Amino acid sequence: MNTRFTHHFGVAQPIVQAGMSWASSNAALPAAVSNAGGLGVLAAGPMFIDDFRQALRALKQATDRPFAVNVPLYRPQADEILDIVVQEGAPILIASQGGPRKYIERFKSAGIKCIHVVASEQHALKALEAGVDAIIAVGGEAGGHPPPDQVSTLVLVRAIARAAPGAILIAGGGVADGAGIVAMLALGADAVQLGTRYMATREAGVHAAYKEKVLAAGIADTRLVGRELGPIRMIANDFSARYLESEAGGDDLAARRALFAQSSLKLAALDGDVDNGKIEAGQSAGLIDDLPGAGELTARLIAECGSALSRLSEFDIALESGLKRRLQGVL
Ligand SMILES: Cc1cc2nc3c(=O)[nH]c(=O)nc-3n(C[C@H](O)[C@H](O)[C@H](O)COP(=O)(O)O)c2cc1C
Repeated sequence: MNTRFTHHFGVAQPIVQAGMSWASSNAALPAAVSNAGGLGVLAAGPMFIDDFRQALRALKQATDRPFAVNVPLYRPQADEILDIVVQEGAPILIASQGGPRKYIERFKSAGIKCIHVVASEQHALKALEAGVDAIIAVGGEAGGHPPPDQVSTLVLVRAIARAAPGAILIAGGGVADGAGIVAMLALGADAVQLGTRYMATREAGVHAAYKEKVLAAGIADTRLVGRELGPIRMIANDFSARYLESEAGGDDLAARRALFAQSSLKLAALDGDVDNGKIEAGQSAGLIDDLPGAGELTARLIAECGSALSRLSEFDIALESGLKRRLQGVL
C-alpha cells in the first residue's frame, strides 16, 4: 500500500506500532515491526538514560529499515533523551504531551523527521504550523492517554482530515485489524497507529499477567480513570473500581489525586500486579485474542487489509463514489 506516509518516511506499509511505555521500551518489538515493513517505535517514556542509549543502539543494529523514537516531552530528563536521539541519529522522532517548538528546529537541521501526537484540530494545525512532517491523531477508544474530551477516533480523524487536508495524518485509537486500518484510510488517514494490538505480541515488554488481562478483556471492559488528572484508559481492576468509587462518592480532587498516585503502569507492566496497577489498554483489547510475534502480526495486518478492500469492491455502487478513488489511490 502506498500513501503519502509511505512515500515521505520511506516505510513500506502505512502501519505504525505505537510507542508504548514498557511495552515498546526495548529494541525487540520495534525491530520486528520495522523488519516486517511497518514503522517500529522505541518508547523512551520510562527508560533510564543509559538503558535508552543502549536500546537505541541495539535497534539500529537490528534493522536497516526506518524506525522511530517516542519521547513524551513532560518526562523528567526529556532534554537528555532528545540529545541522545540527535547524537545517535534516529531517523524519526515521535513527540507527545507537549508542544513541538521545544525541539523542531534542532531536529529538522539534524535531518530527523518529526511526527507530533495531537488530540484536536487546533493542536494539529499548531503542530503543522511549527513545521512537523506529520501528525498522529489518537481518539477516545485508545489505551494509555486518550484525548481529555474523549472524542472518538471515527470523529476526530475525520475532523482533522478536513481541517488539514494537506497534512500527512496517522490515525490511532481502537484499530486492531486490517478492516480498522482500511476504515482509517477511507476517513482520510495516510497511515494507522496500533498500540493495544502490538502489546499483545510476544516481543512486548510487559508482564505475562498483563498480556493475559488484555487477551481476556471484552470491548466494554476498559475504564477511564483520572478525568481531571490527565485521563487514562485501562482494563477494569480493583484499582479502577476504588478510583471510580471515590469519584462517584464525591471525594475532593486532592484525595483522588493521592489515590491515583498510589497506582502506576509500572506496577502492572513490570511487577505484574494486575489488581492494583494501571493496566493501560484500549477498547480494542476486546478484539484481540492471540499473542503472535510482532513481525507475523504485521504481515497478517497487511493481508487483512487486502481482504477488507476486496470486501469493499463487492459494493459496486458505493465504489462509484469518491471512496473508490481514494482506496484505488492507496492500492
Ligand atoms: C500500555 C500503553 C502505554 C503507552 N505509552 C505511551 C507513551 O509512552 N507515549 C505515547 O505517546 N503514547 C503512549 N501510549 C498511547 C499509544 O501510543 C497509542 O496512541 C494508543 O495505544 C493507540 O490506541 P490503541 O491502544 O487503541 O491502539 C500508550 C498506550 C498504551 C496502551
